Amino acid sequence: MLVAKNLSKSFKEVNALNNISLAVQEGELYGLLGPNGAGKTTTISILSSLLKPDSGEILYQGKSLYQNLTESKKMIGVVPQEIALYEDLTALENLKFWGTLYGIKGKELQSKTEELLDFMGLSDRKNHKIKTYSGGMKRRINIAAALLHDPKIVFMDEPTVGIDPQSRNLIFEVIQELHSRGLTMIYTTHYMEEAERLCDRIGIIDEGKIIAEGRLEELKKSSKINEEIRVRFTNVQKTDLSNINNHFNGQLLIHENQMVLSTSQANTDLPILIQMCTNANLHLENLQVKSLSLESIFLELTGKSLRD
Ligand SMILES: Nc1ncnc2c1ncn2[C@@H]1O[C@H](COP(=O)(O)OP(=O)(O)OP(=O)(O)O)[C@@H](O)[C@H]1O
Ligand SMILES: [Mg+2]
Repeated sequence: MLVAKNLSKSFKEVNALNNISLAVQEGELYGLLGPNGAGKTTTISILSSLLKPDSGEILYQGKSLYQNLTESKKMIGVVPQEIALYEDLTALENLKFWGTLYGIKGKELQSKTEELLDFMGLSDRKNHKIKTYSGGMKRRINIAAALLHDPKIVFMDEPTVGIDPQSRNLIFEVIQELHSRGLTMIYTTHYMEEAERLCDRIGIIDEGKIIAEGRLEELKKSSKINEEIRVRFTNVQKTDLSNINNHFNGQLLIHENQMVLSTSQANTDLPILIQMCTNANLHLENLQVKSLSLESIFLELTGKSLRD
């Protein structure tokens, strides 16, 4: 469906994308997971023709994006990271406005907007102005706007950031429904739980490069570590925890009163860890041994946390 080869993009001295290649199959839900500033939005902007790469090639269904720009654009829907709606218009008016821009008219526009408002669970609010909507509701209208022209591939740029849990769950359901209907999607996020839950295949992006790619099981298999030990302490200072560092083979991440040890040998590390905590007079509040997550894979690959 989509093949991108060796995309690079710089903004003056900032090297935003560094030779990124990816291929997305028809019907696939591909996740682009990475921290702030990794290059997710730049990738989406380039793939959807909003931004020109400095170098590289993009093909949709085997044809060059820029040699078939008008035709390609009809296939593409984009849900931007920044909400793009008119606050003083109602949801229905906003959708009609976007529909008109796509060249949809009359009865077709009427039925398409109604259908999408219903799909997004907002039919009863369609005549209310956008400025009365919550962040999550605006986001749902933004998704509807990207679907008006029946695109074949939709890019969603962090669609669940900063919204209420109810809207978030609704957006997940909508994405899963679109996926089951066979729509191809590229979904960016910095939440590993979302990538794990939703995506068929995940590309981990950091500093403008895709540093790992595959199905979740493949990413886990390729990792040297296979478990993580999470410990939370009561009333502990960061300095107390920093003494624990470097006693293990695996990666150790310390954040406030929590410690996460990613390891290939939880069986032997766990008793040592507990003994060390006892010796240091650290009080355990909670201890968990979990199988490997994307967070620890990211830590292993980059030496840093996804979240900060
Ligand atoms: N128009 C621009 N001008 C200058 N620098 C830019 C521009 N757009 C992006 N950058 C820089 O390029 C890098 C990648 O940014 P990008 O927005 O693609 O990251 P991101 O992964 O989407 O981050 P976030 O999670 O914060 O949305 C960053 O260092 C950013 O500051
Ligand atoms: Mg972004």
